[in-house]
Amino acid sequence: MQKLIINGGKRLGGEIRIQGAKNAALPIIAACTLCGGEIILHNCPRISDVYSAMRILTYLGCKVGFEDKNHLSVKAENISVNDIPDELMREMRSSVFFLGAVLGRTGKCRITLPGGCDLGPRPIDMHISALRKMGVTIREEFGVLDCTAEKGLRGAKINLSFPSVGTTENIMLAAVLAEGTTVIQNAAREPEISDLAGFLNSCGAKISGAGCGRIVINGVEKLHSCEYTIMPDRIVCATYLSCAAAAGGELVVSGCRPADMESIMNVFEQMGCIVHSAADKIYFSADHPLKAVAPIRTMVFPGFPTDAQAVLMAALCKAKGTSVFVENIFENRFKHVGELCRMGADILVEGKVAVIEGVERLYGAKVCAADLRGGAGLVTAALSAEGVSEISDIHYIDRGYEEIEKVLSSIGAGIARE
Ligand code: UD1
Repeated sequence: MQKLIINGGKRLGGEIRIQGAKNAALPIIAACTLCGGEIILHNCPRISDVYSAMRILTYLGCKVGFEDKNHLSVKAENISVNDIPDELMREMRSSVFFLGAVLGRTGKCRITLPGGCDLGPRPIDMHISALRKMGVTIREEFGVLDCTAEKGLRGAKINLSFPSVGTTENIMLAAVLAEGTTVIQNAAREPEISDLAGFLNSCGAKISGAGCGRIVINGVEKLHSCEYTIMPDRIVCATYLSCAAAAGGELVVSGCRPADMESIMNVFEQMGCIVHSAADKIYFSADHPLKAVAPIRTMVFPGFPTDAQAVLMAALCKAKGTSVFVENIFENRFKHVGELCRMGADILVEGKVAVIEGVERLYGAKVCAADLRGGAGLVTAALSAEGVSEISDIHYIDRGYEEIEKVLSSIGAGIARE
């Protein structure tokens, strides 16, 4: 079992480059199964969720591999099977994207329910009902979904009751090669949706409106090869800024998209951090004490993202005053709170509300990651704690962060993997 050992209390300083976005890379990698020719994805993060997606591609009969550092090559000329075994489905939630993609390519797909971080119930009822509207017959038995589009997939008008990110993406994947036009109303507007559309359009798809609440997909006959650069990860960016806020210091973050991060920047400014952005760079500086902020409610984009809740909460543990988070997206997303309290934080959770009373200091402790972003929150807090922390179960962190210890060491953090 690997651990992160963090010697806290060191000011951070320097420049880092932001990795490609996990939540864009995963649906795009699944989308490669829709294309006949070779796909080259630049800026693809080397994280364990990407390796899980690569294992699914290999199982399906594709050739996939990193050419060098972050360039992933996928050749999906032949898809030899259309079932995905349970052990591969369970590795991550995003395995569900292969449902729309494999159905789109072969008209059939057999999967079990996807795994992923336990953030409370994560049903896929909206994915299923949208695919049914597109002509897919779905039989559900003992956790297995047997899906067939006997007469082929056909375009449909789909109104989402909630702008679910994964559902929007799965419909897009199923719709690009479907017959006719698909319209998604109340679609999710996260930047990663636009990145998926950008990739598919580069392969010859006809998608308009991504990033708005109404997406229109005109089905095409086939998709072709392309090279595409995956967008930067806004949550990873928020994480490293939270680390600098918590530990204090000056950071230049390059290769990011500040416009995607306004709701997060606004919180850092309330904390008293200085944030300037220019083109693809953020210039950030934080001096203590930080200030508590107005209540933060997690919402769909462009609201404050649920994925940034844990890292910002960690940065606020020592902010002067009381801060409040209201978690509106997932039911069970405060699992880091107990561990932050072990480090001396004063946080009370009641239902979907967490109240943080700023404390003078945090202390190093032995803590355990329970999910991806919660784990990153523990790293953030440990960097601002006095003494040594030991974080276990870091396989959660590795799902979304590329060599987190190397990035943080490069800006002066006392962190090592053991
Ligand atoms: C995606 C992100 C995840 C992020 C989340 C919210 C990826 C790979 N993951 O997850 O990091 O935290 O968006 O921004 O992009 N729901 C249903 N039925 C469904 C689908 C969703 O009830 O069929 C509910 C979920 O349980 C949750 C809410 O809708 O409460 C939001 O889920 P959704 O937007 O679909 O998130 P994911 O795509 O799972």
